[in-house]
Amino acid sequence: MSGGIFVTRAIPEAGLDRVREAGIEVAVWPGPQDGSPSRREILHGAREARVLLSLLTETVDAELLAALPRLLGISNYAVGYDNVDVGAATLSGVPVGNTPGVLTESTADLTWALLLAAARNVVSGDAYMRGGGYRRWGPQLLLGHDVSPGCDGRRRVLGIVGLGRIGKAVARRAVGFDMQVIASGERQRIEASGLATWTPFEDLLRRADFVSLHLPLNEATHHLIGAAQLAMMKPTAYLVNTSRGAVVDEAALVEALRNGRIAGAALDVYEHEPSMAAGLAELGTAVLLPHLGSATRATRDRMAVMAADNAIAMWRGEPAPHCVNPEVYDGPPYRRRRLAWP
Ligand code: DGY
Repeated sequence: MSGGIFVTRAIPEAGLDRVREAGIEVAVWPGPQDGSPSRREILHGAREARVLLSLLTETVDAELLAALPRLLGISNYAVGYDNVDVGAATLSGVPVGNTPGVLTESTADLTWALLLAAARNVVSGDAYMRGGGYRRWGPQLLLGHDVSPGCDGRRRVLGIVGLGRIGKAVARRAVGFDMQVIASGERQRIEASGLATWTPFEDLLRRADFVSLHLPLNEATHHLIGAAQLAMMKPTAYLVNTSRGAVVDEAALVEALRNGRIAGAALDVYEHEPSMAAGLAELGTAVLLPHLGSATRATRDRMAVMAADNAIAMWRGEPAPHCVNPEVYDGPPYRRRRLAWP
């Protein structure tokens, strides 16, 4: 292909059609749905492309950017963009696009599905049934923890780390469970939201019955939850993570679950995705999903259209509607790239 958009793995047709309707040539890496292109295959596919449409499974780093000197943009099919070295992209004059907003509600729904599944043994109960273990109802069978005020009348505490778009959507749903919602982070923003009471991070860990993570992955949040933080949580508490795996030190989490340091964990994301830390899969107190936060048909279609719209704008040399480094457009490196195309 010459001068079109190279897509590193197939996205929903809605996005690809959008590009074709704009009269732009689009090529998709032809490998299997559950595979990922190698660095060499990305370079080969994107060598002549104006825009690279990447998925969160592909690493876009300084080396890749340097090898694609004519690229006019990276459109990432995700709201998270920790797979892209945005600093290196900005330096070399490459705008980076993402898909914020459209997956907020579906990810919040999944966060709740995980939370409830972990607290009420939904997954182990299902396995128990299928395994033929259910012989007779019993007062002690698969006991979990209350989410709404139990018969003790105590409102359970939901601790949200990162009250951004998704954190807020999770907080809104907590009203239905009559929970007390606390959040750590920027105090003013949390207080202004009216959705949670601000509390320092360590206090949140000590008080919450459910700690739910909604942070982007960066240097500041890498391993934010490690052995020390897990040790601060209540032994009856659950950790829920639908953000990025490496926010949690997964080996430390396995240790904490093994020792009963916390009651359970519900994870949609992993530190070294798609692998899991040794021992995690064997733990009955962990509910594990394969990064399904945004996985509804409608959401994935909307993400595809959004990623396509970013890519189309980039291809045309126009500002992308959702750009994480808009300052790039004012710099000479971008202008040089732009001038290289007719
Ligand atoms: C994202 O968009 O960052 C999610 O992790 C996948 O949809």
